[in-house]
Amino acid sequence: MSGNEIRERFLKYMEERNHAVIPSAALVPENDPTTLFTGSGMQPLVPYLMGESHPKGTRLADSQKCFRAEDIEEVGDNRHTTFFEMLGNWSLGDYFKEEQISWFYSFLVDEIGLNPENLYVTVFAGDEENNVPQDDEAVAIWQKLFQEKGVSDGVARMGSEEDGAKRGMREGERIFYYDASKNWWSRAGKPENMPAGEPGGPDSEVFYDFGTEHDPAFGEHCHPNCDCGRFLEIGNNVFMEYVKQEDGTFGKLPAQNVDFGGGLERITAAALGESDVFKVDLLSNVIEQIATLSGKSYEDNLVPFRVICDHIRGAVFMIGDGVMPSNTEQGYFVRRLLRRSVRYADTLGIGEGKLADLAESVVETYQGHYTNLGEQKDQIIETIRTEEAQFRKTLEKGLKHFEKLAHGDITGYEAYILFTTYGFPVELTEELAVQRGHVVDMEGFKEEMKKHQEASRAGAAEKFAGGLADHSEKVVQYHTATHLLLAGLRKELGDDVHQAGSNITGERLRFDFTHPEKVSAEVLEKVEEYVNTAIKAGASVSTQTMTKTDAESDPTVEGSFWDKYPDEVKVYTVKDEAGNVYSRELCGGPHVENTGIIDGTFKIVKESSSSAGVRRIKAILE
Ligand code: SER
Repeated sequence: MSGNEIRERFLKYMEERNHAVIPSAALVPENDPTTLFTGSGMQPLVPYLMGESHPKGTRLADSQKCFRAEDIEEVGDNRHTTFFEMLGNWSLGDYFKEEQISWFYSFLVDEIGLNPENLYVTVFAGDEENNVPQDDEAVAIWQKLFQEKGVSDGVARMGSEEDGAKRGMREGERIFYYDASKNWWSRAGKPENMPAGEPGGPDSEVFYDFGTEHDPAFGEHCHPNCDCGRFLEIGNNVFMEYVKQEDGTFGKLPAQNVDFGGGLERITAAALGESDVFKVDLLSNVIEQIATLSGKSYEDNLVPFRVICDHIRGAVFMIGDGVMPSNTEQGYFVRRLLRRSVRYADTLGIGEGKLADLAESVVETYQGHYTNLGEQKDQIIETIRTEEAQFRKTLEKGLKHFEKLAHGDITGYEAYILFTTYGFPVELTEELAVQRGHVVDMEGFKEEMKKHQEASRAGAAEKFAGGLADHSEKVVQYHTATHLLLAGLRKELGDDVHQAGSNITGERLRFDFTHPEKVSAEVLEKVEEYVNTAIKAGASVSTQTMTKTDAESDPTVEGSFWDKYPDEVKVYTVKDEAGNVYSRELCGGPHVENTGIIDGTFKIVKESSSSAGVRRIKAILE
């Protein structure tokens, strides 16, 4: 069974259960300033889990493209990848535990034919401190399902991962209670790590048992949450009904929601009975090609094969979503993926310029579902080709620079310059130094990097670390101010002005828009005035759901990126009591209810060029 097939079967299965299938959001989240990438299926749906109504209703399903930058260094084992697809289905206050658990179980067992003997599940053991009970309801549902198939249904209490490793599993046990460190899901992890306003809830995870031997390096005994490779988590049913409150306690969300996410490659691996996700067709096509290009075998070179394969796929999807290699923000990761690929390709003796061939096979594998990849194939391949060639030139220059330094040990600062100016991964510097009998001051290097990160603006370091979207009040205020800004710009500069990009934090907004030339100081002042008038007016912000066709043909509705929206869209209107409309724009929210909530005076602090035909404004609320 192929990954492409399982994706389509899942979506159809959910459609048959009255779910609207929605397109994957882009890898780069919109209006979500504090995270660089979409890292889970639920991320684009957070506003709806928090209570906003979704234009497609209360049952949704999709296969969401995800990228986890923090896993770059983890790639190399049989399961970690930076890019992956997460199959998802959501109940926005519609069905709850009974349907969710039964459907997913039946999908695995009846649809794709997994043997229920190989399935093990975990449930939430309760959290007294936060007043969340243990999930006996989920246990009862699981027991009924396992009994129906005539497999054992024993229940055991584990606690933490360490407790699980100490206790191990006994004959007949299939359902395991773990504590909040394992069976609680929020984007910030366990309850105590969640900031105020963050939604979360107990979850019930499904593991596939590949029956491989336990590796004691991972703990005394094996258990579902053991990382030795025997068990693979293939799905997570999150019962999302809680929200952290300002006082640190938990409250209930407006509705009981279900957030289900399951890794497509992992589910396919289980269907194949193959514990190595790189053997799934979605990845194995590239693995085979690496073998052909290098003349080496996968089994003898697991790490370089897996890294190249993962990184090229990630880069292809990223470029397909408009992220070009660069030195900042998302682009930096595309660059890193490609540079690491070049380095690993060199260790395998793959000749120059071959990454583009690998990229082509990624496009071929995925273009049936992700049609944008097929349409942009030439551009994607060209970008990768150019980046590889450029990196090779930089490497050459770096090598010359390195030779000048290599008369002795390399200081942290030198390694840092080699990295930042010449793109030398520090491992490369180390490798070359060792060849010449010298060492690199790695601690010093790390310190320099830290200094650099602290200095780098826009909170990028936090974003790399986190992945936590922030719907704090201030961000929402900035978001509404951004709508007013666009409306003001269009009023002053004309209807050719549209949004080209937006990035908002709790401290400032950054807004890119289409306009061919510099905007004069006088115009900027007028735009500021426009926004501040709207803020002072205490105008209300209302939403309206309409069909995309209607919205698109309504000249009073401003919008861009229309293709990214589903057939039904939401339009936000800012209007005061006297009937003055300040802004009317297509958007997914969230926004303040009234502009009077916006705290501060709107001030444009910078106007500059962003790229050809696109200007950039930075503004603050003072
Ligand atoms: N949010 C959950 C996860 O990412 C399920 O979709 O695992």
